[in-house]
Amino acid sequence: MHQDVEQILYTEEQLRSRVKELGCQITADYAGRRPMLISVLRGSYIFMADLTRAINLDVTVDFMVVSSYGAGTVSSGQVEIKKDLSDSIEGRDLIIVEDILDSGNTLYYLMKVLQARKPASIRLCTLMDKPERRTKPITADYVGFTIPDAFIVGYGLDFDERYRNLPYVGVLKPSVYEK
Ligand code: PRP
Repeated sequence: MHQDVEQILYTEEQLRSRVKELGCQITADYAGRRPMLISVLRGSYIFMADLTRAINLDVTVDFMVVSSYGAGTVSSGQVEIKKDLSDSIEGRDLIIVEDILDSGNTLYYLMKVLQARKPASIRLCTLMDKPERRTKPITADYVGFTIPDAFIVGYGLDFDERYRNLPYVGVLKPSVYEK
């Protein structure tokens, strides 16, 4: 275990198994359709790679870079699109793929932007959900794990751009972010 990690919340095996379940659920729900999976970078890149391989449908993928946190642990509420989608989403069935749903600020903003482009439907899939932190009316259609309000890293999730490559999800030691 990494020295900055206090506790492993989800092991590689637990993540693999839950992501497979989500993939099966999406495969069943979208049978006969061609959903477009939109990965909100950077945090979702590992989840996106595993989730898309767990979906047995003719999917397409696209990517956005959105940022709201900077180097802090609390959302600033300011959301910025740093990289937009490459393709049109008009008439498409979208599944937004996020690593974590926290205050809901990012998705609240993003949903409005994407709705305006007239997709056929939008659903949200998040690996981690922290419902007790929500300040905006956003709920996910697919949730990997509902978690308590701890600062977690790994499997794509960072603190100050570090720890994304940890293969598990762990709770960061407070001493690291209180420095
Ligand atoms: C994280 C995460 C979500 C957002 C969730 O992104 O990937 O996009 O915060 O928080 P919210 O519900 O409070 O808006 P972050 O801005 O940390 O960028 P990253 O994906 O590059 O890690």
